[in-house]
Amino acid sequence: MTADPTTQTLAQLGDATPEKVAARFAEVRARFDEQAAEHSAKKDAEEWKSFVVAWTGRKSGALTNIGDNWLKPAPKELKPTVGQELNKLKAHVEATLEEKRKEIEAASEEAAAARDQVDLSLPGVERAIGTRHIIRQTFDELLRIFLSIGFSVVEGPEIETPYYNFEALNIPEHHPARDNMDTFYIEGPPDGRAGSSAAADKRATAGKYLLRTHTSPMQIRTMEKQAPPVRIVVPGKVYRRDNPDSTHGYMFHQIEGLAVDTDITFCDFKGTVEYFVREFLGPKAKTRLRPSYFPFTEPSAEVDATCHVCGGTGCRVCKFSGWIELFGAGMVNPAVYGFVKYDPEKLSGFAFGMGVDRLAMMKYGITELPLLFQNDVRFLRQFP
Ligand code: PHE
Repeated sequence: MTADPTTQTLAQLGDATPEKVAARFAEVRARFDEQAAEHSAKKDAEEWKSFVVAWTGRKSGALTNIGDNWLKPAPKELKPTVGQELNKLKAHVEATLEEKRKEIEAASEEAAAARDQVDLSLPGVERAIGTRHIIRQTFDELLRIFLSIGFSVVEGPEIETPYYNFEALNIPEHHPARDNMDTFYIEGPPDGRAGSSAAADKRATAGKYLLRTHTSPMQIRTMEKQAPPVRIVVPGKVYRRDNPDSTHGYMFHQIEGLAVDTDITFCDFKGTVEYFVREFLGPKAKTRLRPSYFPFTEPSAEVDATCHVCGGTGCRVCKFSGWIELFGAGMVNPAVYGFVKYDPEKLSGFAFGMGVDRLAMMKYGITELPLLFQNDVRFLRQFP
């Protein structure tokens, strides 16, 4: 194609009659139409923009060029023709561009809508459904058993005071259980005294707060609040400064039990324990009480059950004794009643404290305690 005619004057182009001018405009219009037709198909935003600028751009678009080069310098007798032709061309270009702009916009909206379309016939994304953690399952099973014989569930704070964790449970100041080796002592909240510093707060709360080392403090808190009879179980987390190994961690789970009334005997204690063992391990399990010691029970006992693996004949799991140690228990020490203003002459009861992690490991044959807390799904999936 020759150089763009709109950059030359009509004189340079040799168009001196209205007919020639009209033909020249017709030629420009045809070129525009041809380019416009191409553009609707491409739908490229950048190319579309430069096409629009090439024709309508204020500085050097074709329409501006025609005004500058054809209309302005045109001889008087041609000017009306050039003016009319230019107006017609302008109207045509603008109308066409507007139409195309709408077309292109609609097409891109359609494309976007097509992209966003949801195919309802596609198979859904399958989510792995979680299961209750093995500890949770064990808690649920233990609670089910005790709820079935009239116990109710209460929970208590994990941050305790030495009074509830020790003193009121008849564990005196120099008892080995109060050794710093076993207990996490923590700083309490700032006491808010005017002018107190962090260091002063630390000194003021030293030894005042600890992480409970067992769920037994809830025996005291419950009896303080509630008149007898009491029949509660307390599930929860407890903390001890143990060195972590395959059966120890700094945190584990317990379930406490307490029953106090005017007529509870050692027989009730034994019957409850036996019922629990049969429910938890199966009807064939036998129970044995071994003498033990806890400051807050008297007498105290360790409850053993016949080994759930060999049934009592002896195997590796029960170290060939036929028995498995389950938990500590006993009749409530009358000394404890003194701390909660219960009358030791009229009341009696029993208490027990079970290690839930231990029971879960035993029941499901798990030998490594850390597995319970590492949250490896390959382990967790084995207990659906
Ligand atoms: N609190 C004791 C412990 O953690 C267990 C226990 C509870 C023993 C209640 C007797 C009665 O070892």
